[in-house]
Amino acid sequence: MTTPKTFHVKSFGCQMNAYDGERMSEMLGAQGLTAADADSADLVVLNTCHIRERAAEKVYSDIGRLAKRDGARPMIAVAGCVAQAEGAEINRRAPQVDIVVGPQAYHRLPDLVARAAAGNHALDTDMPAASKFDALPRRARRQGASAFLTVQEGCDKFCTYCVVPYTRGAEISRPWSHIVDEAKALAEGGAREITLLGQNVNAWSDKTGRGLHDLIEAIALIPGIARIRYTTSHPNDMTDGLIAAHRDIPALMPFLHLPVQSGSDPILKAMNRSHSTASYLKIIDRVRAVRPDIAVSGDFIVGFPGESDADFAATLQIVRDVDYAMAYSFKYSPRPGTPAATMDSQIAPELMDERLQALQALLNEQQHRFNRASVGRTTEILIERDGKRPGQKLGKSPWLQSVIVENGPETGSLLTVELVSAAPNSLIGVAVERQAA
Ligand code: 5AD
Ligand code: SF4
Repeated sequence: MTTPKTFHVKSFGCQMNAYDGERMSEMLGAQGLTAADADSADLVVLNTCHIRERAAEKVYSDIGRLAKRDGARPMIAVAGCVAQAEGAEINRRAPQVDIVVGPQAYHRLPDLVARAAAGNHALDTDMPAASKFDALPRRARRQGASAFLTVQEGCDKFCTYCVVPYTRGAEISRPWSHIVDEAKALAEGGAREITLLGQNVNAWSDKTGRGLHDLIEAIALIPGIARIRYTTSHPNDMTDGLIAAHRDIPALMPFLHLPVQSGSDPILKAMNRSHSTASYLKIIDRVRAVRPDIAVSGDFIVGFPGESDADFAATLQIVRDVDYAMAYSFKYSPRPGTPAATMDSQIAPELMDERLQALQALLNEQQHRFNRASVGRTTEILIERDGKRPGQKLGKSPWLQSVIVENGPETGSLLTVELVSAAPNSLIGVAVERQAA
């Protein structure tokens, strides 16, 4: 196989993977390769997700398609969490794969590409002590209006259903100065909004005792940065400082993604969530007390082993109690190597389907109601890209709603609009003339 000149990175799954995908692209670009589409690139990187079985299976259908590509097949790299979890097993199932690289080793991709070009299978699923972040090039000079920045990785919580502690490793916090430098580079590249990422982003801390709220405060001072978000948080790491930040830092957007997973205490215990429904609800109350307009979002799993009708009813109840602006919900998927996968009383797929439908109907209704309640508000949106029709622009409200405007300004602009109508997934905004000072 010859040395590739062009590349394509395809990311599946979470925002952390999207971030890793961008970093891999920037690194390959810095090596002199040029970006191409998946049908023609010499090197295709599949940046995979292992969180649920369906996500993990997607990679094998992609590999099959790539291997059959007309003309010469590309060099194929499997990166991300499937690479970490399955390692050399991937080559046994799909011998066409040239490179397997885990999420903590992708800074070594150029070396792995050279090994593959020399005709060897290349595998690297190390979790080296030295951080990959130190080995990656500085962020690219051009950024969209909204950029991701990983501040924390890995998880020590070991929820019994979850593969993340195994695929991403132990919790680590990136150093303060590295994060602030990266945020400055993103701002210089044109980013107006930064979303701080971590599997447990609110567990970020450093040796001096600083927490995520200190980091948010520092990033808010960077010229050009108008908005800050963070995701995903764990209830146990919702500190007083972070809650207060929602009151004190105007650039911190009124949005909180705080998964609860289930509304039943026995199920939360079996999940090893180490919080209760009452402690979760208390956090929501405290955040709402300092920031009444905050949009709350969550994640739910239905059909965890042993989930009874009463347990599921309790999940519907907590959804009613919290009243979510949006949420993600999933059928439980047994993951190899996790404690829940071998628990008794796995739930029948049909029952899971039924519960998921009921939960999603309620969550969709809440989301639509939240959007309708925004109609009449005058607010600022950040223009992120062109809309579907000529002249249309798509922006985001502070509450992360998509807002469509006619004849909006260029990407990266902040525009004051009145929200005039709502659909389940988006709103229409009309630009408001600002009073001359
Ligand atoms: N099955 C179903 N959903 C899962 N999640 C994590 N692991 C599983 C699993 N085994 C969901 C959780 C988590 C989100 C990222 O994915 O809701 O918050
Ligand atoms: Fe997975 Fe739980 Fe860690 Fe979230 S907190 S990444 S669900 S183990």
